[in-house]
Amino acid sequence: PLQAKMLKAKEMSDEEKVYRYNGVLYSTLLSPKEHLKCLEKMQAREDDIMLVAYPKCGFNWMVGVIKKIITAATGVKSESKLPPLIEFHGPENLKNVEEAPSPRLLGAHLHPDNIPASFYEKKTKILVVFRNPKDTMVSFYHFSNSNPALPSAKSWDTFYSQFMSGEVPWGSYFDHALGWEKKMDDPNVMVVTYEELKQDLSENIRRISSFYGFSLTEAQVQQIADASTFKAMKESSSSSHGNMGNVFFRKGEVGDWKNHFTPEQSREMDEVFNKRLAGTKIGAKLNY
Ligand code: A3P
Repeated sequence: PLQAKMLKAKEMSDEEKVYRYNGVLYSTLLSPKEHLKCLEKMQAREDDIMLVAYPKCGFNWMVGVIKKIITAATGVKSESKLPPLIEFHGPENLKNVEEAPSPRLLGAHLHPDNIPASFYEKKTKILVVFRNPKDTMVSFYHFSNSNPALPSAKSWDTFYSQFMSGEVPWGSYFDHALGWEKKMDDPNVMVVTYEELKQDLSENIRRISSFYGFSLTEAQVQQIADASTFKAMKESSSSSHGNMGNVFFRKGEVGDWKNHFTPEQSREMDEVFNKRLAGTKIGAKLNY
């Protein structure tokens, strides 16, 4: 089905590739309106393993890590090649999601206010991955040019303006960050940053497994960390992501923004970041 969508994308104009819903842009092919509408009815389970990230913050990295944690802790190997994003599953697929055995690995790129209420009501554990906004923007820029489902970025400067004003699929980075700020003290929400993961993957694998209620031996932690480096995941990406492997595993570094931002753009981003996120817990965590 993903391949069929990609073929369809080739026939669409950039304008047709996005639509607006409640003021936010979404991908017409990946998360059409009927998908978002049917999410309202979605029933979470207490033991769902929920992963949420603004696009390009390291979602696929964490999917790889969490799948390995589940396999190591339970002995059950996830065969699913589908991205676990709930907004990708339309009415036709929802039944499969509903019938899937626990623990279900589910995900979203959605703003916290748009995640189905039942995830909060059931106190499902939600891991949130964030990344510094400059590298997120760079990654999103390249992704827009390599993923046919999204409108192509006309130029770096144009994409910069669109990102800064939230005119990109899934909306504004800053709105998402401020949405999670309200949940920073929720014991069922854990925020981890891309930069923390790069700095000490093993320690974060320990933290993530215990957050979800899994216990791993030290040898399992090390094995997962070794298999989850950028190099290892890129090498195995053809089996996890088919021919989209190179699209999802591009460079995998902290600080690539320095090769893209002009000094003026960097200053403006710092100003906006300070204006919107200064004094917040999430802002402190994202400090870059
Ligand atoms: P870059 O474009 O900067 O390389 P998402 O999965 O949310 O779309 O995020 C994609 C970003 O995460 C890409 O960033 C990708 O290379 C990076 N990434 C994926 N796996 C990674 C890993 N194992 N280690 C470090 N970065 C990884």
